[in-house]
Amino acid sequence: MEQPTQAGRRDFLTTAAMAGGLAAGYGTFAAMAGRYLYPAKPIEMAWLFVADLQGFKPGDSLVYRTPAGGPVAVARRGSAGTADDFLALSSTCPHLGCQVHWEAQHGRFFCPCHNGVFDPTGKAISGPPAEAGQSLLRYPLKVENGLLYIQVPVETLGRTTCPGHDRCLAGRRGGEQA
Ligand code: FES
Repeated sequence: MEQPTQAGRRDFLTTAAMAGGLAAGYGTFAAMAGRYLYPAKPIEMAWLFVADLQGFKPGDSLVYRTPAGGPVAVARRGSAGTADDFLALSSTCPHLGCQVHWEAQHGRFFCPCHNGVFDPTGKAISGPPAEAGQSLLRYPLKVENGLLYIQVPVETLGRTTCPGHDRCLAGRRGGEQA
């Protein structure tokens, strides 16, 4: 019987390494193709209650918390009693995620992290967000039977404390049931 030579062993190892590389390459390709053919599950959205229009007058505003805990500034600007009366803007700066706040004296949203400025509709007008064309995220709203609803992602529903506005959160913190 012929004994394996040193060169023969080297050839075998080289061939095995190449086969392994090809398998890994095809595996990566298959994974990428699978992701393309079967895209990730779309984000689940739902309409959630925000407020009763009776208690939310023109000029009023509130902070709504999405199920994931993201703050959304909701303001009422009109009195028609339709969704067009309202505006819901994320308070999370689209630049690097700091919290913006409303500056009534300047009529703008301001992000203190890098001096990002947004107009009352959430459009970026100065600072890094404006340079990158990143405005505040605007959420869809609807009015049904005198109640205001917001459409938000609900993937984390049930894993956070309490979606809703500040009063809801304050009640839960104090041990009350909503
Ligand atoms: S995080 Fe808001 S301007 Fe940079």
